[in-house]
Amino acid sequence: MPPAGPGWPDGIIGPVPPSTPRSSRSLAAVVLAAGRGKRMKSSRPKVLHDVCGRPSLWHVVQAAQGAKPSELVIVVHHGREEIEAAVSSWGLASAPRFVDQGEPLGTGHAVRTAESALGVADDVLVLAGDDPLVTAEHVRDLLRVHRRSRAAATILTTTVTDPGGYGHVIRDGTELIGIVEDTDATPGERRITEISTLVYAFRREDLATALPLVGRDNRQREYYLPDVLTILRDKGERISAMPVDFGGTLGLNSRRGLAGATKILRRRIVERHMANGVTFVDPDTAYVDVDVRIGQDAVIQPFTVIQGGTRVGQRAVVGPGSRIVDSTVGEDAEVAFSVVRGSRIGPRALVGPYASLRPGTVLDEEAKAGSFVEIKASRVGRRSKVPHLSYVGDTVIGKDTNVGAATVTVNYDGFRKHRTVIGDEVHIGSDTMLVAPVRIGRRAWTGAGSVITKDVPAGALAVERTEQRVVRGYDERKRAGQGATKAKARKPAAGSKEPAARAKSKARKGRAGG
Ligand code: UD1
Ligand code: CA
Repeated sequence: MPPAGPGWPDGIIGPVPPSTPRSSRSLAAVVLAAGRGKRMKSSRPKVLHDVCGRPSLWHVVQAAQGAKPSELVIVVHHGREEIEAAVSSWGLASAPRFVDQGEPLGTGHAVRTAESALGVADDVLVLAGDDPLVTAEHVRDLLRVHRRSRAAATILTTTVTDPGGYGHVIRDGTELIGIVEDTDATPGERRITEISTLVYAFRREDLATALPLVGRDNRQREYYLPDVLTILRDKGERISAMPVDFGGTLGLNSRRGLAGATKILRRRIVERHMANGVTFVDPDTAYVDVDVRIGQDAVIQPFTVIQGGTRVGQRAVVGPGSRIVDSTVGEDAEVAFSVVRGSRIGPRALVGPYASLRPGTVLDEEAKAGSFVEIKASRVGRRSKVPHLSYVGDTVIGKDTNVGAATVTVNYDGFRKHRTVIGDEVHIGSDTMLVAPVRIGRRAWTGAGSVITKDVPAGALAVERTEQRVVRGYDERKRAGQGATKAKARKPAAGSKEPAARAKSKARKGRAGG
């Protein structure tokens, strides 16, 4: 916390008593998101790049909203439509206002463009849409320090391992003197690892008087927001800096920065879950998106990716080696070495190893999708099992049914998809082809290897295969025949067998490709 030391000039502060409670000063927030983000080398606006399941801008807006501003303005220009569409898809309780900066001429210019949209707030909070590690807590702490110290401006600073490209913090002792952008810095200043985040709190009237005085006399020919600090300081105003630990990196100016920020946010998310009673066998290989909810005593095994709006129930075991996207994993369920998207896995259900559950899959309580099983847009009833090597699509399976190994619901006729309905307590024999549309009645059976094209009534057995033929003494005759062929083959000119073999393999390929 900066000392509210003797340095600051009492007279300029005005009528604000030191004990002013936080809530008595109103706040407007500005989020900067108009830049092109050249360094990202991307067709997508920089602030929309994903960090742990949400765009960078989303994280920043959450942080801003944590301070309960009466007005939230987002400054946009490049990729404006994309950004506005993304923001409106988040369903925020209070919709932000957008201001188009026009050609972005710098962060100072961006804030100036937003001024008229800020209403009558006493304080102005500025955040950059590309600094996703800033939290609501940081913002609240910043405002507390800002108001207590009665500074004209207060900024968040942090120490990074690679300060290249950022604004370096110039101090005289502990006192903040100003910010020097990397491009304008001397070699000595460039080595300063304390850098400025673009999280600023301003007293509104001070910001308003200083902004028009910001010039663009610098290497980038831009209006720098940090220059406001020097202007205020020269006027004798107090400016203060609050250092916070972001773990050695900050924003996402480049893909490298994106990876760095993602790593830190990921660690924070995992630690939050651990604090809530979730076991992570190896936190370093757990990738959990920011919106994921995980119940107590769940165990996340190594190399597991849990994404989107996934919910994991209490005591469930997820992983190792799994990816779960926008799905629900019920209490005590287990998923190993599998990919699950848009699915609902019931309590105590088992998935994998090596299962693929595609969108629209529902496994009821204690159901099973075993090894090398793919299920899509289907419901598997209570205690029903699809244990091995099967494809189930557009299907409803009742309860207590067993689907034998290598069963396929033949749901696609080349033009349209068709449904399969399988009742309760059914036994589907191994390697059954269920050619949809088809219905298998309750307690029905199918014989292994059958191609079922007609409905099977309840309690019946359907077998579709030719009767087995037994040719006795076959092996002996075959071997004798082979011996004769080999003896003959040794005699004729070499290569005479070759073209025939090639033609045969060609014919086979032709059929397979059809
Ligand atoms: C800025 C700061 C730097 C700080 C760093 C922290 C300035 C001049 N520099 O540098 O001191 O260390 O952030 O991350 O402020 N933007 C606009 N309009 C513009 C220019 C930028 O809206 O005209 C937006 C960008 O979209 C971006 C944010 O402001 O979201 C920051 O701009 P960027 O160009 O990334 O600034 P930095 O070089 O990171
Ligand atoms: Ca930046």
